[in-house]
Amino acid sequence: MTRLLLGVTLERICKAVLLLCLLHFVIIMILYFDVYAQHLDFFSRFNARNASRAHPFSNSSRPNSTAPSYGPAGAEPLSPSTKPSSNQSVTEKPLQPCQEMPPGLVGRLLIEFSSPMTMERVQRENPDVRQGGKYTPQDCLPRQKVAILIPFRHREHHLKYWLHYLHPILRRQKVAYGIYIINQYGEDTFNRAKLLNVGFLEALKDDEEYDCFIFSDVDLIPMDDRNLYRCYEQPRHFAVGMDKFGFRLPYAGYFGGVSGLSKSQFLKINGFPNEYWGWGGEDDDIFNRISLNGMKVSRPDIRIGRYRMIKHERDKHNEPNPQRFTKIQNTKMTMKRDGISSLQYRVVEVLRQPLYTNITVEIGKPPPRLARG
Ligand SMILES: *[C@@H]1O[C@H](CO)[C@@H](O)[C@H](O)[C@H]1NC(C)=O
Ligand SMILES: *[C@@H]1O[C@H](CO)[C@@H](O)[C@H](O)[C@H]1NC(C)=O
Ligand SMILES: *[C@@H]1O[C@H](CO)[C@@H](O)[C@H](O)[C@H]1NC(C)=O
Ligand SMILES: *[C@@H]1O[C@H](CO)[C@@H](O)[C@H](O)[C@H]1NC(C)=O
Ligand SMILES: *[C@@H]1O[C@H](CO)[C@@H](O)[C@H](O)[C@H]1NC(C)=O
Repeated sequence: MTRLLLGVTLERICKAVLLLCLLHFVIIMILYFDVYAQHLDFFSRFNARNASRAHPFSNSSRPNSTAPSYGPAGAEPLSPSTKPSSNQSVTEKPLQPCQEMPPGLVGRLLIEFSSPMTMERVQRENPDVRQGGKYTPQDCLPRQKVAILIPFRHREHHLKYWLHYLHPILRRQKVAYGIYIINQYGEDTFNRAKLLNVGFLEALKDDEEYDCFIFSDVDLIPMDDRNLYRCYEQPRHFAVGMDKFGFRLPYAGYFGGVSGLSKSQFLKINGFPNEYWGWGGEDDDIFNRISLNGMKVSRPDIRIGRYRMIKHERDKHNEPNPQRFTKIQNTKMTMKRDGISSLQYRVVEVLRQPLYTNITVEIGKPPPRLARG
């Protein structure tokens, strides 16, 4: 009895295995014909799917203009001022607008400050940068014209590294740009924000077509060229993760290091404060101005917005500003009267160097009651 039962069970197992094999064979055949059918039109008629789909061995190259373009992480960049013309004439070949995400970017970069650097070397590396530190892409129409403003005094050594790294990055990012160092004349207390206000006006005097302004410290180098130096729908903070802060944002309202505002965003907040003498506070004041005017800071992804800072000792005449904590409480009251509208300065000299424009300005000194500290 048990023997009979065993026999029946074995037979069933054998049948099941056979059935499985057959099923397997059928599936293989279906897959085989499915692939093969794509090569032969004859079989495609038997294919359930639409025969008109792409033929793998045929010439499926598409015009380059249809290549998808990806916006950077975070907010969308401003829409281009020039739209591609619908009139596509093959013969004259007009320049196309540069892609939102330029194809020549390399991503993460190795940044180091140990190899010796000279201005001559940086010039040799960047033969296509025009006098005054200007550049325009030749193979596409740039979507924005960007003035990069660097508040400056006695940091020639850092400037060489900054130019060495930034010129090639900006070139790959396909924007039209000009580099301006705003050099504070004399040895009075440093005033970063006021220098940047000066830079805004002086850059526009140099070229009224600038529509985007990027404010960068001279010792900060981006570690990823996908961190696009251009303006966005909202004011941009670029230096999200610096090595000195462990590649993290030190606090939610941080707006220091490298930031960017379009011309209209900058004017909307009446520019930057002129009354922050010494180190610190002015970036928080700018953040307040942005929020109080109904805008919101946009940032790149933390993995892309990484920065290396060139190590240095604190500069002379740039001691921490003891007033900064009380001043940033009062932005709402002060921003209307203190800003680009109340700016006063005197240009001492403008020198157009091969890789940058050097604007030396006299911006005065802190009022005497603050001088004691
Ligand atoms: C096959 O695709 C073409 C266009 O791609 C379409 O016009 C046609 O109606 C499709 N036919 C079927 C049977 O889906
Ligand atoms: C593909 O297209 C190009 C030009 O569009 C042509 O020169 C080439 O011969 C084509 N190749 C095939 C396999 O049809
Ligand atoms: C299309 O793109 C490829 C590589 O991106 C380039 O080599 C080629 O010249 C482009 N063709 C046209 C017509 O722009
Ligand atoms: C397209 O270009 C042709 C000549 O190149 C011109 O005559 C025509 O008006 C243009 N059409 C549009 C819509 O721009
Ligand atoms: C900028 O120009 C001033 C003189 O106008 C000069 O003292 C200073 O060294 C220059 N700085 C740079 C970095 O070229």
